[in-house]
Amino acid sequence: MSKPLIEDRSFLRHFWHPVCTREELEQANPSGRGPLAVTLLGEKLVVANLAGKIAVMQDRCAHRSAALSRGAVEGDQLRCNYHGWRYDASGRTVHIPACPEQPIPRKARSPAYECEMRYDLVWVRLDSSWQCTEIPYFSEWDKPEMRNVVVPSYVWNTAPERRWENFTDLSHFAFVHPGTLYDPGFDRPPVPSVDRVDGEMRFAIEPPPEMQDKLPENSPLGSFTYRCSMPYSINLVISLYRDGTTFTLWTTASPIDESHCRNFLIVSRAQKDDDPDNAHLAFQKQVLLEDQPIIESQTPAEITMDEVSLVTDKVSNQYRKWMRELSLAALDGKDAFVKALQTNAIDKRLVQSPAMTLGATETTT
Ligand code: FES
Ligand SMILES: [Fe+2]
Repeated sequence: MSKPLIEDRSFLRHFWHPVCTREELEQANPSGRGPLAVTLLGEKLVVANLAGKIAVMQDRCAHRSAALSRGAVEGDQLRCNYHGWRYDASGRTVHIPACPEQPIPRKARSPAYECEMRYDLVWVRLDSSWQCTEIPYFSEWDKPEMRNVVVPSYVWNTAPERRWENFTDLSHFAFVHPGTLYDPGFDRPPVPSVDRVDGEMRFAIEPPPEMQDKLPENSPLGSFTYRCSMPYSINLVISLYRDGTTFTLWTTASPIDESHCRNFLIVSRAQKDDDPDNAHLAFQKQVLLEDQPIIESQTPAEITMDEVSLVTDKVSNQYRKWMRELSLAALDGKDAFVKALQTNAIDKRLVQSPAMTLGATETTT
């Protein structure tokens, strides 16, 4: 078996990843505040809302290793349900019922992680030592004219890189989504210019407008503009051919481990009367059902170096190149990692609109 594209995955700990939706946290327990067990990059974590403050810590009690996610939220503390130790949001043990008069041992704590609620998702950064990443870009969240629907998260048995590549794959539409997203007659994909700008991969395509007549009403056909915050987020803005309004799909594949990902999707569209969410969500679900079996069939789940790439695989080729660079740079320390993430590179091979090149400081050919 060929070696994996990414041999050392520790660089992923420096990025923010979502672990659950707001609704999933609220529904995890009748209290509405968790706790909820999640897994990120192989680490078992517990999420809780402690008196309005989101807390994420290792899902393991310092006493006898019971799962804190089997415990309960009490005010601004999380109680372990084995012997009742209580933890604050920083992961420190603040009460031990068996011997309350004794000083609390210094090692009595569960490591806590930086976390934040954004886009109605709970985000976690496991390693904050370099402070060099931000929560990914989402163009529509604060726009009052847009309606944003956060879809329940879903797990796929594949590496997050494969899910990312599937979402941005321009040659699969005609084969995996014939009659849903694409007219199968158009099986030669566009090859866009692909830029690196401020930690994002950016590219744009214009599918043939004449496909419109053969696609269902909710199929979002239009000009596609991708802004993809590394490593796993995609902000796809579609300017619909049918009426010129904006339809945005925002997604992130969150790495449970190297062969499983939890996917988050936000469907964003212009607010309109008489345009129920259900029709759009059912359509997106259909698209996911078309993708999932083929993606979960990719073996192994992790991307390997022996796959044969074509010029029409440009987006995934560029993505693989950048992911590998990030992984290797992180081994050389913070400065090398920041340079690999933030150095802009503009693809000059194809003419592109000025908007796509803003912020460029370096070029490649
Ligand atoms: S294992 Fe948690 S209090 Fe004992
Ligand atoms: Fe697809």
